[in-house]
Amino acid sequence: MLRSTPDRGTFTVIWGLAIQAYEQTLIPDRTPFDRFFSGHLGALTPRQLLGLATFVGRGNCATCHSGPMLSDATTSFFNAHGALNRDGGDQGFHNIGLPDDFNDGGRGDFGPGGVPFTVSFSDFDNFAFKTPTLRNIGLTAPYFHTGAKPTLEDVVDFYDRGGDFPNPEKSADIKPLHLSSFEKSALVDFMRNGLTDCRVLKQRAPFDHPELPVPNGTNLAAVGAEGIGPCQGDDDDDDHGHGHGHGHDD
Ligand code: HEC
Repeated sequence: MLRSTPDRGTFTVIWGLAIQAYEQTLIPDRTPFDRFFSGHLGALTPRQLLGLATFVGRGNCATCHSGPMLSDATTSFFNAHGALNRDGGDQGFHNIGLPDDFNDGGRGDFGPGGVPFTVSFSDFDNFAFKTPTLRNIGLTAPYFHTGAKPTLEDVVDFYDRGGDFPNPEKSADIKPLHLSSFEKSALVDFMRNGLTDCRVLKQRAPFDHPELPVPNGTNLAAVGAEGIGPCQGDDDDDDHGHGHGHGHDD
């Protein structure tokens, strides 16, 4: 009946809000990283601990992948540190030395109607992308918004050499790190295992991805006004309801 009521638009909005409300309950906050910071010091293995130390220390990762969200693109980071990042570009966005692809200008690009995305109008917004969270990062290869890096080892090597492209807009926080191979593998172990919520890995509630199977019509063939058989009381009534509703298409 929804089809012929003015509530179609309302339904769309409520459906979207319902999905959003549901997604907001999906908080992957039971990782070894979280357990460690709530006092279970054995939650991270010694190697993952070295990885965490490298992440915060010599790797300089936590400068951008900061706090419990492992990202500076959050309202709390914005409130604490202001609208500009350390280079002077838009907070939460950085040029990390990926290729300068003029079809993919990132924060320096323009939206519909030629409206620029950048708010600071800093050159550092050119080819700058939003810092993503690293929660469950072991489950979401390949990496970067282009998927250019197949593994976390590749990502760590990328940062270790200070990015792939030395462009003028590259963040001052991206420079060669000279990590040892042990520091690199510890960093990968920390990210791959220390940041994974097992409930997501095992598809346990609330990450059991409920679905609404919607048949696309093939198994609900039209049968005509008489249906697939008579009903009790048909003979008492000459009107078999041949009149079809005049549905609106808009
Ligand atoms: C200057 C800020 C900055 C620093 C420092 C930084 N990152 Fe990033 N990181 C980013 C941004 C921005 C992206 C998104 C790039 C893209 O999507 O193209 C990203 C993406 C990633 C990704 C891929 C995420 C995904 O979902 O694809 C991983 C993994 C990662 N960083 C790990 C690290 C590690 C490990 C370090 C330290 C060695 C580090 N980052 C240092 C800003 C930074």
